[in-house]
Amino acid sequence: MNILLIGSGGREHALAWKLASSEKCKNLYCAPGNAGIAEVAECVEIGVEDIDALVSFVKDNDINFVVVGPEASLVAGIVNPIQELGIPVFGPTKEASILEGSKGFMKDLCQKYDIPTAQYGRFKDLEKAKEFIYELGAPIVIKADGLAAGKGVIIAETIAEAENAAKEMLSGDSFGHAGAEIVVEEFMDGEEMSFFALSDGENFVPLTSAQDHKRVFDGDKGPNTGGMGAYSPAHFATDELEKKIIDRIIRPTVEGMKADSIPFAGVLYAGLMIVDGEPKLIEYNARFGDPETQPLLMRLENDLVDLLMASATGNMQDFDGKISFSDDVTLCVVMAAEGYPASYEKGMEIKNTNALHGDKNVRLFHAGTLRDNSGALVNSGGRVLNIVGRGATTEEAQTIAYEAIAKIDWPEGFYRSDIGWRAIKAQKEKAA
Ligand code: AMP
Ligand code: GLY
Repeated sequence: MNILLIGSGGREHALAWKLASSEKCKNLYCAPGNAGIAEVAECVEIGVEDIDALVSFVKDNDINFVVVGPEASLVAGIVNPIQELGIPVFGPTKEASILEGSKGFMKDLCQKYDIPTAQYGRFKDLEKAKEFIYELGAPIVIKADGLAAGKGVIIAETIAEAENAAKEMLSGDSFGHAGAEIVVEEFMDGEEMSFFALSDGENFVPLTSAQDHKRVFDGDKGPNTGGMGAYSPAHFATDELEKKIIDRIIRPTVEGMKADSIPFAGVLYAGLMIVDGEPKLIEYNARFGDPETQPLLMRLENDLVDLLMASATGNMQDFDGKISFSDDVTLCVVMAAEGYPASYEKGMEIKNTNALHGDKNVRLFHAGTLRDNSGALVNSGGRVLNIVGRGATTEEAQTIAYEAIAKIDWPEGFYRSDIGWRAIKAQKEKAA
């Protein structure tokens, strides 16, 4: 099979690695890819939102399967024209991508189908939003309705802060069009978890859980980022909790989207808050998580081409009870450019990444990297390298990941030194 993968991050490098390892994969192309992906796929210079160029590439290169990584492609509507060509494509349609593309839509779906989530209101008018903010009280959460690269959420500690956030979003100052409508919602206090399931629009199979670290500094401090690290499974995931997530959240979502004639085929990435043992939905993403996918795919034992193809072709039931993840813990540390998530330099040279090859418990995935004219590896983005360690426990996986990362020679790079700390702390408390 000739496969086209769309995207350029660490998530896509992990997907490319697993797709390329399948016997079904003959030629793997990636648009636009990065320096790491170029080691397993042929990179083609087409942007993820350039729908016309992507569709032409599919037609001209005898592509048999398309796998979409990022939400920007999905929301721009890459899936529909490829389906129209009769070529299988992994990911939801433009219509179904609204589950991630509009936070208000997702909240209304929860209300309609009785899916547990925070109490909320949707607003375009500042005065009405303010009234609701007074009613709910602080702390309170203000969200831009549309896509804002993971940055459109303000946790306001005071009413004044909440009003200000609402005002800035609605005026278009903070997130442009994405903030023309906002969601104001109840603050939930609990432990966060990501849970993934694959759907073909009608049937679904649960995958596994992960926990990511969104804040830039140790101790989960500082501004939010795209993700500074993640590990899988989440340390407090139990069969009982997963059953609640499946029965109360995943199943009613798949059934509700189908009943509303916008069936969702692709990966449902549920961002959850576990409050007193009960799962509540924070948000849905319509694609794999980044960096969660990197540790998740290192645990996956199924053939990824078969699995994603089943989602794209309505055959998800073939995998019922057949999904297999290793019992190991995998832990991913993100190496970022100094200054990220604010401004940072590009084109800085990174050396000695080859030192990580050859250890089966370590994998290096590239995010924002490219080769310059001299062939040197340089950064082209803020999140640059993802180092995944595998171990029998979170602590072991963490040690392996940090021993590997120490070999990389990149003085202008930084990383958090405590990825997985919640799991390790909980395991130590349990042992004590
Ligand atoms: P999101 O972009 O919706 O994932 O939100 C980013 C982060 O904000 C989440 O990972 C949570 O840590 C936090 N968050 C979002 N909504 C809520 C909420 N209702 N209560 C508490 N924290 C929230
Ligand atoms: N890790 C967060 C995300 O992929 O949105």
